[in-house]
Amino acid sequence: MKKTVTAMMIMSLLSISAYGYSKEERVKDMQAMETAMAKIQKGILYNDQKMVVEGVDNLKKASANVEVAPEGFMDYSAVYAKQQSKNILKYADKIKSSIEENRKHSANSNYTEVLGECISCHNKIRKWK
Ligand code: HEC
Repeated sequence: MKKTVTAMMIMSLLSISAYGYSKEERVKDMQAMETAMAKIQKGILYNDQKMVVEGVDNLKKASANVEVAPEGFMDYSAVYAKQQSKNILKYADKIKSSIEENRKHSANSNYTEVLGECISCHNKIRKWK
């Protein structure tokens, strides 16, 4: 029993150090991005610029981590993930500038562009197929 626990601890430590980013951390960032996206949508609908900007800031904070992904678990590379993350940051900035100019349709288009990046990556997760 003790041996099993030790072995499991070593294995999880190894997986953390190999990827530098655990599954728990990834799920936490993913959930933070989902919450941020919901906040952005709510802000657009309630005509609350401040809420949209807060959502964008939260989205950017969490998506900055997305670049790190274990190979084999998903069929995407670290380079791909980094590009996705970059695109999300770019479209998030667009949401912010659109809403600050009170262009809600544009903000919505930018929002959809972000969602498209999320879905593109999710389509590459092997266990989700
Ligand atoms: C580069 C790849 C990648 C991108 C980009 C990405 N995701 Fe994910 N997402 C994942 C992976 C991998 C998982 C599966 C996590 C796991 O089970 O380890 C996941 C899971 C999730 C989950 C489920 C979390 C749970 O509790 O199981 C949500 C919600 C989510 N992502 C939201 C988003 C949102 C919102 C975006 C865009 C803003 C996004 N993701 C962009 C890779 C990505």
